[in-house]
Amino acid sequence: MAANLTRRGFCTAMAGASAALALPVSASTPMPLTARMAKAQIAPPQYAMTDVWSYDGKIPGSTLRIPQGGRLKRRLVNDLPVPTSIHWHGIRIDNAMDGVAGLTQDAVPPGEIFDYDFTTPDAGTYWYHAHTNSMEQVARGLAGPLIVEEQEPPDVDRDEVILFDDWLLNPDTAQFSEPFNHPMMLSHAGRIGNLLGANGTYDPVLPAKRHERLRLRLINAANARILDLRLHGLKGWTIALDGMPLEKPEPVDGAITLAPAQRVDLIVDVIADTGEEAGLLHLANDDSWQVLVRMPVTGKAATHTRDAPLALPPNPRMDVPGLDTAQQLEMTMEGGAMRGLSSANYQGRDMGFRELMQKGQFWALAGQVGMTETPFAQLNMGETVRLKLMNDTVFAHAMHLHGMHFRQVRANGSLGPMRDTILSLPNQPLEIAFVAHNPGKWLFHCHMLAHAASGMNTWIEVA
Ligand code: C2O
Ligand code: CU
Repeated sequence: MAANLTRRGFCTAMAGASAALALPVSASTPMPLTARMAKAQIAPPQYAMTDVWSYDGKIPGSTLRIPQGGRLKRRLVNDLPVPTSIHWHGIRIDNAMDGVAGLTQDAVPPGEIFDYDFTTPDAGTYWYHAHTNSMEQVARGLAGPLIVEEQEPPDVDRDEVILFDDWLLNPDTAQFSEPFNHPMMLSHAGRIGNLLGANGTYDPVLPAKRHERLRLRLINAANARILDLRLHGLKGWTIALDGMPLEKPEPVDGAITLAPAQRVDLIVDVIADTGEEAGLLHLANDDSWQVLVRMPVTGKAATHTRDAPLALPPNPRMDVPGLDTAQQLEMTMEGGAMRGLSSANYQGRDMGFRELMQKGQFWALAGQVGMTETPFAQLNMGETVRLKLMNDTVFAHAMHLHGMHFRQVRANGSLGPMRDTILSLPNQPLEIAFVAHNPGKWLFHCHMLAHAASGMNTWIEVA
């Protein structure tokens, strides 16, 4: 007995000692990323500041930069009055770090923390955003750019991140218009803002020089708005989509479409003259092109323009082999205003339109409304999968797969660029293919966040 007690005492003493020894190591506590309330001057100066939810008080959150193959460690500190979590959009991440409340982790309650720690295998432009009640939390401002840098960056004078967003504000108070789950938003095109901007302001300005070469990393962080952009006073090439390099830079000719959550990396040369204004235009509701990002041109960076840019080095695992023997899946998207759902399965029960509507549910994927106990598909590690998407709604949907990128299988059988989010248009079937190389539980959902919240949200499992 006495020996036991002594032994227990010894163990306790040792535990204390090792805890004391561990103290200096706690210097490696991950840097906090604090979700908290803040105020931001999003609207023009004659308006009040907007009460936002932010990372570290900033709208958008700071640009996180990390080398390819590096490791990102951040401690989410939740100083919000509600639970939250962070999703690292587009990173082929360790499943436990994916940030999906209810699937890969529990939401972090107010006052608590969660340590994110993961490696970043792919260079490119990504972003991070709340993934707990994201329809409201992303709209309130919980989003920021995440840049994974190539070992050897392309030859440009500057690298600029432009995170687009739109805000639906009460025009009298400049505060977010509520509720966030208005049935009109859920059942139609989603929450479209009445103020469009980038990098946290309605009037983003990016001064430039004539003949300057810039890498522009464009991110659409809007809840539901599809951006149609055009270059003005700039000559450009697309070099990457959703983080993944294109084999060959493609000259920009006409509009650049950016659905919610999509990214495009451009290399642009400033061809406007000194004293002029270059920039990015967007297609307004009345079909006119309006200035969205102003780039006043002063001075010269060079005497003439350079040759066309080179392609970025490819990321690992960009091939999608084995299409002929791939498993074939199909998914029909249904619901929403105008066409509606006659019935669908919700929480394990078939329900008619009226009952679903009363529960705030308007959409179905493959006959299912929202999350299910079992995954839409159970995949084997390493297998290639083809997924046909039929859009039987009258709305566009930005379909996003977590954990893995995919390629579109075009009608002629060729493969499109690698992406993590694809725009599906009404009555235009799409097919995507991917290799199930990342084990875990992965969401597949519409990034029109009001649609995801009202049914367009499912998951697959890779075992
Ligand atoms: Cu960018 Cu599931 O989200
Ligand atoms: Cu949708």
